[in-house]
Amino acid sequence: MPGSSLLDCLTGQLVRLSEIAGIDPATSLQLMSDLLGPHGSRPLSEPPAWPSAIADDHSPVEFSLAYGQGQPPALRILAEAGGSPPSVQSNLAATHQFLSRQAQRLGLPVSRLAAVQELFADDAPTGDFVMWCSLVLRSGRPPALKAYLNPEVKGVAQAPALVSEALVRLGLGRSLQAMLDHAVRPGQLGVADRPTFFALDLHDGPDSRVKVYFTRHNAGVDDVARAASLVDGVDLARLSEFCKVAGGTDRFGRSPLVTSYTLRVGTDEPVGYSCYVPIRSYVHDDQEARDRVVALLAPFGYDAAEFDRAVDAIARRPLRDGVGLIAHVSLRLGRPYPGVSVYLSAEAYGVRPPGGRSHPPHAAIPTAVRPRPARPRAV
Ligand code: TRP
Repeated sequence: MPGSSLLDCLTGQLVRLSEIAGIDPATSLQLMSDLLGPHGSRPLSEPPAWPSAIADDHSPVEFSLAYGQGQPPALRILAEAGGSPPSVQSNLAATHQFLSRQAQRLGLPVSRLAAVQELFADDAPTGDFVMWCSLVLRSGRPPALKAYLNPEVKGVAQAPALVSEALVRLGLGRSLQAMLDHAVRPGQLGVADRPTFFALDLHDGPDSRVKVYFTRHNAGVDDVARAASLVDGVDLARLSEFCKVAGGTDRFGRSPLVTSYTLRVGTDEPVGYSCYVPIRSYVHDDQEARDRVVALLAPFGYDAAEFDRAVDAIARRPLRDGVGLIAHVSLRLGRPYPGVSVYLSAEAYGVRPPGGRSHPPHAAIPTAVRPRPARPRAV
């Protein structure tokens, strides 16, 4: 489409995904375009304004569908707000502006974010981002927002202390040690096992959640199962099987698994656990990824046609012609509701050729040794 913009591309995808999720596309479109700001109108013929780490092709948006038994999937949009000119700092400022506009409009309390955000602020942040946010859209419910903070903003070594202080401020201070004991291999804290995201639901209700994520370099299925054993009632056999089917392996050396613990205010033990498999690094092409995801969704009562609708909503090419459209697949165990989530890359800026079993540009390289992002281009 000559002259089409980033927002034009994402709009078509979002309208089709909204139909699958049974939600009003007008609301989700308004939220997404507000979040993208001036970056949305940038022509696709120009390179991305900012090398966002949300997606391998630097699109500042990643869609996901959270499937759970017996209901239409929830649609989530993970996005990075773009400052002008973009930088880690100006993108953070734009995210705050977006959140305060929308929190006001939707009547969302942001007191818990306010309690921790200054911990994650730094004059010269390390890494690709300070805060991303996610829009969560479910049929019959008002939109919800989540904030994802980067615990490594003050350097990789500071991340555990930062997470610890944030948990203390949220009244969850006693939860960290058990998480570290289970999720970190001996001597690997900040090395192969790194706390890389700290997520908050932006509401104060009784089911409001905090999630602590660990990136697990070169982990095996046994490592992520050990981490899961902290959470009461999780089905470890199901988790192991999921990882093996998603990855076609039981050791994840090409790009790292990510795991998360879900905490609820007032409860010191995690109530849920998720494991995210970067399936794009473990398949030849998206057709292979699609076939694996279909197998993973079947036990939850979703058939192939259902998932193919989601892929068709996004894909602008045959699945065999590239890899990475299906970026991750995750298993959610425990509360609030178990299921499978599939992360779909917009591919607004590029498609990785099939067979590229190489590392995605961001996932496997520790931040500490990663070159700083290219200089931002003017929007
Ligand atoms: N693209 C980044 C990565 O692969 C961040 C990211 C986006 C991510 N969506 C995700 C990480 C889902 C884990 C799960 O690491």
